[in-house]
Amino acid sequence: MAAIKQKLPVRRFDAVIVGAGGSGMRASLQLAEAGLNVAVLSKVFPTRSHTVAAQGGIGASLGNMSEDNWYWHMFDTVKGSDYLGDQDAIEFMCREAPKVVYELEHFGMPFDRNPDGTIYQRPIGGHTANFGEKPVARACAAADRTGHALLHTLYQRNVQARTHFFVEWMAIDLIRDQDGDVLGVVALEMETGEVLILQAKTTILATGGAGRIWSASTNAFINTGDGPGMAARAGLPLQDMEFWQFHPTGVSGAGVLISEGVRGEGGILINANGERFMERYAPTLKDLAPRDFVSRSMDQEIKEGRGCGPNKDHVLLDLRHIGADTIKKRLPSILEIGHKFANVDATRDAIPVVPTIHYQMGGIPTNIHGQVIMPKNGGQEIVNGLYAIGECGCISVHGANRLGTNSLLDLLVFGKASGEHIVRSKLKEKSHKPLSEDGADLALSHLARLETSTGSERVQDVANAIRSTMQQHCGVFRTDELMQEGVRKIVELDERRKYVSFKDKSKVFNTARMEAIELDNLIENAKASIVSAAARKESRGAHAHRDFPERDDANWTKHTLWFAEGNRLDYKPVNTQPLTVETFMPKARTF
Ligand code: FUM
Repeated sequence: MAAIKQKLPVRRFDAVIVGAGGSGMRASLQLAEAGLNVAVLSKVFPTRSHTVAAQGGIGASLGNMSEDNWYWHMFDTVKGSDYLGDQDAIEFMCREAPKVVYELEHFGMPFDRNPDGTIYQRPIGGHTANFGEKPVARACAAADRTGHALLHTLYQRNVQARTHFFVEWMAIDLIRDQDGDVLGVVALEMETGEVLILQAKTTILATGGAGRIWSASTNAFINTGDGPGMAARAGLPLQDMEFWQFHPTGVSGAGVLISEGVRGEGGILINANGERFMERYAPTLKDLAPRDFVSRSMDQEIKEGRGCGPNKDHVLLDLRHIGADTIKKRLPSILEIGHKFANVDATRDAIPVVPTIHYQMGGIPTNIHGQVIMPKNGGQEIVNGLYAIGECGCISVHGANRLGTNSLLDLLVFGKASGEHIVRSKLKEKSHKPLSEDGADLALSHLARLETSTGSERVQDVANAIRSTMQQHCGVFRTDELMQEGVRKIVELDERRKYVSFKDKSKVFNTARMEAIELDNLIENAKASIVSAAARKESRGAHAHRDFPERDDANWTKHTLWFAEGNRLDYKPVNTQPLTVETFMPKARTF
């Protein structure tokens, strides 16, 4: 073991992956199977990572139920992204999709089956045949537990491949040397409170989303944006953080996800008059229009007084006509969630739903291999030794709005692609860069501030205030006034955050310490999101700006880059050039 000035113990690996969700475990599998020494650290047991909550399916143009091809999938994804997605990455993802799904099938993934033995596929919002003509069944599903099945499949394969899992470990900060290269992370073992250096030739951030910066969220409590938080503190930018997806169907009052798979199986949204209102907003795709579109339509119905319930604050998701047998077979979790969180029997009653924060389209900017990049001299440079994949990365395949099922696909395609890229770089033959004496200083001073603080702020008070501010000031519909006020409040909360303290300094499973570390990540994500949102003077995808209701292609077809230092913004062009086909030119998004 090497040692640095602060005498932290050091463990060395070829690669360290922070996060054991779908992207982290797909990357680790690629690396471990190639004979690399790989560590994966996770705040929770790997099969409890937030990917477990993904329900509807994995998007891939297998064409098992009707004609389909990757080019239609690419068209839908570019249009779904409201023309902010990078078309090279989108082409790559859609072409690779069938391969990664069949690979998963061969790993043992328990997909639902058609009578002829092929993988069962269901329609999901925004996925169409023949360039928008009609919905297509593209979501490869394991009932409504696709993410659950995916995690178990990947975990088993990783155990077989001898990946080292560090379960209930938390990364605190990245280690960057004087060249800006990343040499690993400083991490905390929750059980003992011990702090270690995990040194690596390559570090991959796969920490998932930051959906817990909002009060109404489908996200797990672990989703505190740790990867982007660490990246921001290490001087790296965050990209397109203004684009946050509201999933149309979170259980009203509880936030728990009701899969878009429900509408894929034939469920419909109805207002207080019993009207299937999506027919008015999206005459072709109706309830299967993309999520940004459906969420805005629901919000509009509620604002215009056609909401349901005593407070007229939600709409209803009606799946009674699908029939109890299909519901039990295809949507068993939805039946259970309906019972437990909405007190309804979904075979007999409609489920009360509202648009609920679900997914961040933005994240740490990367190239098509998952390597983290940052602007330099009008171009971009690679941050050596650092990758970011899955929801915490921004490649960017989702642009301003992600299509359902493209998230699990993104995890698989870019988890694998980043692993392959690392293997091709002949990592095994390279040696570790030496750790300097002050290598862990960023993390150690971060921890020291938290340990020694005598400030009067409580972690939960500041965290809750961040959530309610984001909810109030950065919702489905936004205005200049609301967002500017939101920026002011979040900057104030950033000041209060510096004075948080916790009384219990014990080492063993001290959740107060962990929550204080998470708060420092929440605030970076919140600042990036609200500052980026307040600056974008147009409406695009999930960013619906009342004062600028139109998309402004001439001025705003560009990615936002936010830097923690000085809350500074920069912009970079969208890559509109696909790998092999013609560019999809921006068009009005009608469905
Ligand atoms: O609705 C869902 O099943 C969620 C899927 C997704 O976010 O891709």
